[in-house]
Amino acid sequence: MPSTPDTTPGRGGAAAPARRVRVDPEGPVLVEGPVEIALDDGTVARSDRFMVAVCTCRRSRAYPWCDTSHRRRERAAAPPEEPKKPEEGNPS
Ligand code: FES
Repeated sequence: MPSTPDTTPGRGGAAAPARRVRVDPEGPVLVEGPVEIALDDGTVARSDRFMVAVCTCRRSRAYPWCDTSHRRRERAAAPPEEPKKPEEGNPS
């Protein structure tokens, strides 16, 4: 892991500009990029975008990045379809 200066207030370092994070309650966490995310398997995903949408629902096919899959809703089960009746008076 690269060494970075300790910028914790009170420890002598200059305060680094704060990284702004915005949380969408029904969607991703929006983070000002660039961003690196350490994943469970030990790999690191990186995005150099200005604003990065990090998936929190785990439905994204591009995980850890949001691909808007969180917007998809499951529909209520549709009632079973009735078999079509032949139209009356229409010989075919
Ligand atoms: S938060 Fe958008 S796909 Fe998961």
